[in-house]
Amino acid sequence: MNILVLGGGGREHALAWAIKQNPKCDRLIVAPGNAGIAQIAECAALNAEKPALVVRFCEENAIDFVVIGPEAPLAAGVADALRDAGIACFGPSSAAARLEASKAFTKEICDAVGAPTARWAQFDKAEAAKAHIRAEGAPIVVKADGLAAGKGVIVAMDEATALAAVDEIFAGAFGEAGASVVIEEFMAGEEASFFVLVDGEDVLPIGTAQDHKRVGEGDTGPNTGGMGAYSPAPIMTEALQAQVLDEIIRPTMAEMARRGTPYQGVLYAGLMISEGRARLVEYNVRFGDPECQVLMMRLGAQALDLMLACTEERLAKCRANWADDHALTVVLAAKGYPGAYEKGSVIGGLDALAEDSSHMVFHAGTARERGQVVAAGGRVLNATARADTLAEAQARAYALVDAIDWPEGFCRRDIGWRAL
Ligand code: AMP
Ligand code: GLY
Repeated sequence: MNILVLGGGGREHALAWAIKQNPKCDRLIVAPGNAGIAQIAECAALNAEKPALVVRFCEENAIDFVVIGPEAPLAAGVADALRDAGIACFGPSSAAARLEASKAFTKEICDAVGAPTARWAQFDKAEAAKAHIRAEGAPIVVKADGLAAGKGVIVAMDEATALAAVDEIFAGAFGEAGASVVIEEFMAGEEASFFVLVDGEDVLPIGTAQDHKRVGEGDTGPNTGGMGAYSPAPIMTEALQAQVLDEIIRPTMAEMARRGTPYQGVLYAGLMISEGRARLVEYNVRFGDPECQVLMMRLGAQALDLMLACTEERLAKCRANWADDHALTVVLAAKGYPGAYEKGSVIGGLDALAEDSSHMVFHAGTARERGQVVAAGGRVLNATARADTLAEAQARAYALVDAIDWPEGFCRRDIGWRAL
């Protein structure tokens, strides 16, 4: 079959890498792709947030199946347009994608089904929001309601920070996403992610992971899109997974179906775990980046079969086959990230890497210029490895890092510390 993957980051390189291993895949196109993806697939220029353009591209290229990586095309209705045109597509409708696109929508659903999550309130005026913060006190969490590329959340440890965040959001720091704010109770604990496939009705767990959001070692410094991740997350025991499925995920999915907007695709539940119980932090309607890289390394070629089963509503008869293994990925970022950084520096050493089903350097933000791979983003490469133990996976991932010659880049040297 001919397959199109939308996106061009490390997540999409990992998806393309896994899909390509499956003999069902004849032709693989990734739009826009990057320099690493170009080694295993055709890359195409296409505005993935314009549903009509994506449909036309699929018709012109006889695409049988589309996998949507990022949230923006989902929120824009690309999955709806593809399904209307009779093209199979992995990813939720725009109505179902509201589980990520509106924090207030998710909180309201949680309340409707009694799913454990932080107490919350929504405001569309700054004064009322500030009065609420003064009444509740810090620590407290202030969020722009809409999609803000992962940046619209301020975890305020003091009241002044929370009040300033309200002003910042209403002043337009996050554009339309900040038309209203959600203010939440601060939850203490350890975070973990749980990934499931949902076919509208049935739910199939496909793995757990933990990421490192802070830029600095020891989980310090500003938040980023993620500086590394590993799977499985040891804290996500069988019992905890069962609690999350029973109290959070299945009730939410049943409520989405009851409202006439059934969910289909991968659902990523961000959880806060404290005293052996999980509460929902947020849902994402896509794979995490870089969590996808470790999940794909563990799933391999079956990832495509599972995504097809999800799309064809056959999940009740499916299961994911796990080797008893661990995967870990280290993000190499451009110096300065998550602040200002330079683009265009040359990355050496990639051609000599020994890559196989247990060792891969996925490209996140790279381009090819004059025959060389150059940095083209903040998060640039994901050195990813798999092994029987997490410690060994970590050692292998850092061996990949050390073989890369990129003086303008940096990484954290402690990815996985919490679990080791
Ligand atoms: P979100 O985009 O909603 O996942 O928020 C980004 C990050 O902010 C989460 O991964 C948490 O680390 C943190 N966060 C969000 N909401 C809360 C909360 N209610 N309590 C504590 N931390 C939170
Ligand atoms: N790594 C966090 C995310 O993809 O949202």
